[in-house]
Amino acid sequence: MRILIKNGTIVNANGRERKDILTDGDRIIAIGGNLDAAGAEVIDAAGCYVMPGFIDTHTHFDLDVGLCVTADNFRTGTRAAALGGTTCVLDFATQDRDGTLKQALETWHKKAEGSSCNYGFHMAIARWDAETEKEMDYMSNNGVTSYKMYMVYDGLKVDDGQIYAALKTARDHDALIGIHCENWEVLLRRIEELKEQGVTQPWGHPVSRPAEVEAEAVARYMRIAQLAGTPAYVVHLSTEEGLIEAQRARARGQEVYLETCPQYLLLTDDRYRDPDGVKFIMSPPLRKDTDRERLWQGLKEGELDTIGTDHCSFTMEQKMMGGGRFFKTPNGGAGVQHRGQLIYTYGVCEGRLTLEDMVKYLSYNPSRLFGMPDRGEIAEEKAADIVIWDPSVSGTITDTNHDYNCDNSVFAGFDVKGAARHVIINGEHIVENGSIKLEGRGRYISRTGYMKLR
Ligand code: URP
Ligand code: ZN
Ligand code: ZN
Repeated sequence: MRILIKNGTIVNANGRERKDILTDGDRIIAIGGNLDAAGAEVIDAAGCYVMPGFIDTHTHFDLDVGLCVTADNFRTGTRAAALGGTTCVLDFATQDRDGTLKQALETWHKKAEGSSCNYGFHMAIARWDAETEKEMDYMSNNGVTSYKMYMVYDGLKVDDGQIYAALKTARDHDALIGIHCENWEVLLRRIEELKEQGVTQPWGHPVSRPAEVEAEAVARYMRIAQLAGTPAYVVHLSTEEGLIEAQRARARGQEVYLETCPQYLLLTDDRYRDPDGVKFIMSPPLRKDTDRERLWQGLKEGELDTIGTDHCSFTMEQKMMGGGRFFKTPNGGAGVQHRGQLIYTYGVCEGRLTLEDMVKYLSYNPSRLFGMPDRGEIAEEKAADIVIWDPSVSGTITDTNHDYNCDNSVFAGFDVKGAARHVIINGEHIVENGSIKLEGRGRYISRTGYMKLR
């Protein structure tokens, strides 16, 4: 199967050019003009940007959070992802505390069958001991080269010693460990204080875990990584204070990588006062305008490295399962379909980022940090994972005009420009004129070790 993409502007992280692309099977085989396209399907990309498929560094599909299971599974989540231009998601396979990493990996492989875009797994470690340590070999040999450890949540939280020991083992596997940085003991105390004052409404959520709760945890993680002699990766960074701590670590010579998410770039904590405030309960919580602006500036200046969605969707009924009390509400929001549109509209169109930056944060950096060197770039011999982005489209996100399996969106009301007109995954035309043409064609991406970006 060959596809010729004609008349578009190719955008890579390091520049743009007007050239055509020919794919054959799952590879890009030629870039240029007058390409020999006999027998190829022809896509006219006039007026469009042709970018490497977006990689979402952070999704939670089919995740049991105790109270309920996320609204999106791999079938619905990866379909929505593909429609938004994402050709690969990295989801969090999550170890049961009394289970093994291998069991979690097998479970996630089953969950992911029938995915419509490519997928890989970070492994969330809930228990660090000699058995888990030995399993890192198996993980590396089976394409899992990144991990998450949580400083929070019953059933997932690990202690600082476990993080230190895991980092040292990860170093021998060229693996990155992303840490969810919040101080659990302090935020639990603050929740108790709020309860004593009778505060149970959603606006109590950001009060219980303010910027210092994240910044303290980032600072601690930086020192633990320094002691372990490893790179550090912070997932879903949300605050200026946290960024300052990471920058301090860089200033003393540490190798630090940072992920943020569209919600921390676009939403603020006044949303918790909205009638549907539970919708915005996620951890870390939404922050202040100053944080938002500092994160945009961080992207502009290259201080951050990736933008993942942290897609973790719940219906409004699920969000209300705790009776509207902030400390009983499932944490997380939907976002996997809208990342490209939001970053294009509020980053590129508003002059905060270039198109090349967009590719760097959505495609190139994720491909390097997470061991997928044949993706994240439009070049000969690279994977034919391509998004043809039409900048002429515009619309408004609502609670329902999306393909998530839930009845809400934290971005409802946001005007957006640009859309994925065509999406090619593994050389197949998956999204055609904004609609899914082929479902269930995603493949597991077995990853190599991380590649240094800084
Ligand atoms: O609230 C969130 N972010 N839920 C998903 C789990 C996590 O911590 O990433
Ligand atoms: Zn997290
Ligand atoms: Zn997450």
